[in-house]
Amino acid sequence: MSKSAILGGRPIREQAIPWVSTMGKEETDAVVSVMESGTLSAFLANSGEKFLGGPKVKELEKAFCERFNSKNAISVNSATTALHVAVAACGIGPGDEVLVSPYTMVATASAVLMNCAVPVFVDVDPDTYTMDPSKIEQWISPRTKAIITVNIFGLPSNLPEIMKIAKKHNLYVIEDNAQAPGATVDGVEAGTIADIGVYSLNYHKIIHSGEGGVILTNNDKLARNCQLIRNHGEVALDEEDDMDTVALGSNLRMSEIHAAIGIEQLKKLDDFLKRRRRLADKITDGLMNRHGLKGVTIPQGYTHSYYVYPIKYDANEWEMSRQTFAKAMQMEGFPLGVGYVKPIYLMNIYKHKHVFNNTTYPFAFIDTPTQDYKMGICPIVERLHYEQLLIADICRIPFEEKDIDDFFEAIDKIWEERKKIKKLE
Ligand SMILES: Cc1ncc(COP(=O)(O)O)c(C=O)c1O
Repeated sequence: MSKSAILGGRPIREQAIPWVSTMGKEETDAVVSVMESGTLSAFLANSGEKFLGGPKVKELEKAFCERFNSKNAISVNSATTALHVAVAACGIGPGDEVLVSPYTMVATASAVLMNCAVPVFVDVDPDTYTMDPSKIEQWISPRTKAIITVNIFGLPSNLPEIMKIAKKHNLYVIEDNAQAPGATVDGVEAGTIADIGVYSLNYHKIIHSGEGGVILTNNDKLARNCQLIRNHGEVALDEEDDMDTVALGSNLRMSEIHAAIGIEQLKKLDDFLKRRRRLADKITDGLMNRHGLKGVTIPQGYTHSYYVYPIKYDANEWEMSRQTFAKAMQMEGFPLGVGYVKPIYLMNIYKHKHVFNNTTYPFAFIDTPTQDYKMGICPIVERLHYEQLLIADICRIPFEEKDIDDFFEAIDKIWEERKKIKKLE
């Protein structure tokens, strides 16, 4: 076996595998066709047909309903805004609390603050990395209105249990499914199991339109609220005199061009997933025969979308730090993320409770805070982030089976030389 690159040997890959666009001729043709039609958007903020957008927006929404078996779809311009809309659609606002997974992209929790409500973080399961249902009830207060659970890295949360707890306490459940389109729980699509599910179409997601988001819900009232918030709903409400709905609207609309790209990408989702799952299965098999590295845990009846592949690292077995291992892999041409986004409650905005200018709102709407945002409140997520997790973005196009073989060759080289590598620390 050749010497590891970190010890001066030749790297397995001279250059890391590049980022490759998943756009094809179909997407280009679809964009050209929208351009030629002259209708780049058809939204109008007045009640009537145009309140719901143009032909491509409606076609994308219909396609999402069909592919994921949902009654309603509402497209918006990102998953961030989709989360914002979903929280608002549930009627959540000042004085309310929402339970949120702390291991996610910041947008999940920001959606709560943007509605002037307060996130309360629930620790995750040490094996699946999704919200641990057994930790939920300890954080429920009279102010709790909803749970936002994140289908992180592509694996659905324990939705059957979360839905049971939510029903018992009369809470809404929102699924942040930005990373898990096409994943399932007992054959049911992730993103459609809770009251509302949110999808992302940003450029690094499994399917994308550059930017974009889609909300799915089987609840007609929530769907209507989402449509109103997306498009300056107060205008339409004024005309309809329907003050049953209270929510400030905005312009969160998707353009016809983005919708046209999304339609073509959605048609390719199952092929993309097939490829990701083939590569991921090879990674899982390979990790079973390696020391100190643990692959995904997929509960019975679940399928994974493998937005990325999370690996649990055991520094004791490797006798070197996770950082050194990741650096050695990087020098072999395989970048590995060390942890994911740090636990959200440790970000400054939470630590200092500083969201809007010089006030402590929305936290100050609550006299007796349910949670003190400090190290130690979610020990599992802290251990995962600061000690254990490595994130491999190697299930995407253009990775092939051969690249996964190379990935393991790099791991084996580093394992063989771990004692020498350790001395570099
Ligand atoms: C879990 C999760 N939620 C929300 C978002 C926000 O998505 P968008 O970039 O479409 O706003 C992301 C994006 O990375 C995400 O990974």
